[in-house]
Amino acid sequence: MITVALTKGRLYKDFTAYLKDNDLHQYIEPLSEDTRSLYTIVDNVKFIFAKGPDVPTYVESGVADIGIVGSDIIEEDTFNILNVSQLPFGDCHFSVAGLPDQGEFRTIATKYTNVASKYFREKKMDVSLVHLNGSVELAPLLGLTDGIVDIVQTGNTLKDNGLIEYEKILEIHARLIANKRTFYTKEDEIYKFLTEIGVF
Ligand code: PRP
Ligand code: MG
Repeated sequence: MITVALTKGRLYKDFTAYLKDNDLHQYIEPLSEDTRSLYTIVDNVKFIFAKGPDVPTYVESGVADIGIVGSDIIEEDTFNILNVSQLPFGDCHFSVAGLPDQGEFRTIATKYTNVASKYFREKKMDVSLVHLNGSVELAPLLGLTDGIVDIVQTGNTLKDNGLIEYEKILEIHARLIANKRTFYTKEDEIYKFLTEIGVF
């Protein structure tokens, strides 16, 4: 048995769409069930559904052998994992955004303080960061900060809140990650699964 860590967020929708596009019927149904259960088993593959930032934690410890995670998570925090490969879904990017008439940015709200501070440090911009846990678009609307650093996918959240993108920071893609030990000790099972879903 191998354990695959997935997220139940936006990336999950992209992953199930990828399975559908590639006619991977054996996985589509069990992964699309409307249930509160946090795991499902298909043959010898156990899928667990975790919060995005927790996927690398499960994989690092070895209780999950591989995981599918947005590169945003591994840009923001450091994990002792194998960063195996980029996957063909989950494309989006980090941007700086704010109200249309915003001048220089002095304060920025974000869930991704490490990504943001690295970016502003490299640009030699003196910006104070406010950490929020989500819905960061509210911060410039309410005047908490001048702008945000956040993920943009369709751009709808920015548009619906009257915000515009000022600068693109970094591309984001789904990535396959693996435990440093079990990726080799369970090589055959992992390889079989990855071949089945067209990753290898
Ligand atoms: C993410 C991200 C943006 C939005 C981008 O938020 O933080 O707000 O999606 O997607 P879009 O460009 O397609 O609108 P999410 O809904 O995951 O929630 P959160 O910010 O509260 O974590
Ligand atoms: Mg959001």
